[in-house]
Amino acid sequence: MLKSLFRVKPVEPAGHVDAGEPVEGSLEGEATLKRTLTGRQLILLGIGAVIGAGIFVLSGHAAAEHAGPAVVLSFIIAGFACALAGLCYAEFSAMLPVSGSAYSYSYATLGEFVAWFIGWNLVLEYLFASSTVAVGWSGYLNSFLATFGMGLPESLAAAPLNVVNGAVVYTGGLINLPAVAIIAAISGLCYVGITQSAFVNSIIVAIKVTVIVLFVAFAAKYVNAQNWVPFIPERVVDANGLGHYGWEGVVRGAATVFFAYIGFDAVSTAAGEAKNPQRDMPMGILGSLVICTIIYIIVALVLTGLLPYPQLSTPKPVATALEAYPALGWLKHIVEIGAIAGLSSVILVMLMGQPRIFYSMAKDGLLPKFFAKVHPKFQTPYVGTVVVGVFAALLAGFLPIGLLGDLVSMGTLLAFATVCVGVLVLRYKRPDLPRPFRVRFVWLVCPLGAITCLYLFWQPFSEHWHLMTGWTAIGLVIYFVYGYRNSRLAKRA
Ligand code: ALA
Repeated sequence: MLKSLFRVKPVEPAGHVDAGEPVEGSLEGEATLKRTLTGRQLILLGIGAVIGAGIFVLSGHAAAEHAGPAVVLSFIIAGFACALAGLCYAEFSAMLPVSGSAYSYSYATLGEFVAWFIGWNLVLEYLFASSTVAVGWSGYLNSFLATFGMGLPESLAAAPLNVVNGAVVYTGGLINLPAVAIIAAISGLCYVGITQSAFVNSIIVAIKVTVIVLFVAFAAKYVNAQNWVPFIPERVVDANGLGHYGWEGVVRGAATVFFAYIGFDAVSTAAGEAKNPQRDMPMGILGSLVICTIIYIIVALVLTGLLPYPQLSTPKPVATALEAYPALGWLKHIVEIGAIAGLSSVILVMLMGQPRIFYSMAKDGLLPKFFAKVHPKFQTPYVGTVVVGVFAALLAGFLPIGLLGDLVSMGTLLAFATVCVGVLVLRYKRPDLPRPFRVRFVWLVCPLGAITCLYLFWQPFSEHWHLMTGWTAIGLVIYFVYGYRNSRLAKRA
């Protein structure tokens, strides 16, 4: 039994692929995913997935509660962890251009059980993140509409349940209708096709990057350097015994703003649909990561320079900072539109990624076959897209999502750490495989990447370990009841 838990899916060199040619073997006569995405589209896909709630919603909280102006350092630390993991993703995705991302890489290196565990954690990253961001989207939309007296009543824009101090409470809401609506609309788009999705994504990315550039360009001259002093506020302990600020706060802040980087790895889920994955996957992953890191550092500097950090603890800190300067009133509405657009592209890429991971898992027999069904006309994994859309809409509409933000980060950090370890394992086990992109100083980069990600994982885990353990337990039951018995590797053995 132990041996079968660690069975490894054989890796073969992918060989060069041309546009339109599938890499993953299709079942006889079945439709497969289509190779249409270019390097530029992949970078835009990455930026589309990355810039969202992390900068528009969480940055203020991280500054006010954890790091003060040194949230800039938190962004640098989280970016560093992601850069190490990003290099490892780049090596894997160019070598194994399949849709399963960290799941497929683990299956090829660390065995089926770890692969399942990571695949299960990726559900936290993709499905739960899309719901979390949809709730943030709904908040921004409602606040924007309220400016024109058109805001929805509270009962139609809030989930009925919330968790306060560990207890489930009724909020007075019925359903978060805008959150459900945006998930439904974007799922529809993902159903129709990846080319259309990538096209819409490119437009949204252009809008959100323009808005950020406008924010930096016009708000920079209102920055008051006094707001950056002290840069790292002195550590304090609150009434509940929790520490804030100081270096400890900078690291806790890094774990919070890590959410802002989630998504660059989503580029790897589109590897099965990239025209030239060997060249373009590293470009898409690392390119989007570098661009987003630079944007975050600059925005965090301007944001903390505009207002004293304790005042940034609002659900829309960028807009809040602008409200303090009447001359920038016009920019506030533009930022709100940028946030609404920005958050929608995050939801789009997340909702595109999840069915593609399920597709890979189903092809391996670890999930029911219908997840591997590809639409004969649109060539998308349509059944998975519908299932994911329904679950994401239910979560976004009815459940207390705020608390689950940390779960999203924890699932992602575990996946990143595993990918770092996986690169090293495969270098050792299969040094012969052609690697179009190689991580340099692999013996340093991989262990450092894994340790940094696990360290960041530990920050929220020590608080929410029971949620994470519960999630893992559900995953184990599904694996042993279904995946273990139906695994294609098991049948071949
Ligand atoms: N990085 C994505 C965001 O910040 C998940 O919304």
